[in-house]
Amino acid sequence: MDSVINCLEAGVEGKRTQFQEGFDAFATCHGLTDWEGWFSPYDEETYDLVLQNVGPDDVVIEIGAGDLRLALQLAERARRVYAVEVNPLLVSAALQAIGFDLPRNLLVICANALDIAFPDDITVAVLLMRHCQHFGRYVDKLRAVGCQRLLTNVRWKSGVESIDLTRPGVPFGEVSEGWYACRCGAVGYVGQGERSDTPPVEVIDCPACRPV
Ligand SMILES: C[S@@+](CC[C@H](N)C(=O)[O-])C[C@H]1O[C@@H](n2cnc3c(N)ncnc32)[C@H](O)[C@@H]1O
Repeated sequence: MDSVINCLEAGVEGKRTQFQEGFDAFATCHGLTDWEGWFSPYDEETYDLVLQNVGPDDVVIEIGAGDLRLALQLAERARRVYAVEVNPLLVSAALQAIGFDLPRNLLVICANALDIAFPDDITVAVLLMRHCQHFGRYVDKLRAVGCQRLLTNVRWKSGVESIDLTRPGVPFGEVSEGWYACRCGAVGYVGQGERSDTPPVEVIDCPACRPV
């Protein structure tokens, strides 16, 4: 496994296809804006935070799986992993590097995650994509198939939070003081800073959700 990951790491520059001719049209075709379609792997610390939250009974979907380096590590821990990546150049280069070392429980899907039906056996979703513009749509799709947890860096931009998808959020109006994190992907603080050390409240309709 280490040698495969080293091989993926060695070829990382060639996989930054966002700088290749034709990429902008591809991103437009898929509705990927504001660097959402750019590939850049995260660091080992971030991956460890994800891996710590995955167990042998889990069925994982990784949305935006990049060059599959995290998906390979997830497949060592979980029952099954669905790795969804929109970029065909990235997927083909990764599969070429992995070759016959591709584990049987790792199912690689080259598609736009917004276009496909999510499998109904997933328990955990991984979304490492700080520039994600479709957070709310992913949350809705995951809840619709009964996925229980979402491990992501989308909302707070650093670290990895584990969102309990089985608990619906509360109306934004119920937060009088403190941090909130919304289903739409926005985060913020309500009040004068008197409760800045308390965990965020999960809300469903923050000001960023509302049409202007
Ligand atoms: C910042 S990279 C992170 C890759 C990987 N998660 C990692 O940590 O190594 C984000 C990836 O998400 C992919 N992506 C973005 N939007 C997507 C979508 N709608 N469907 C599938 N993949 C998507 C991009 O092509 C890119 O490879």
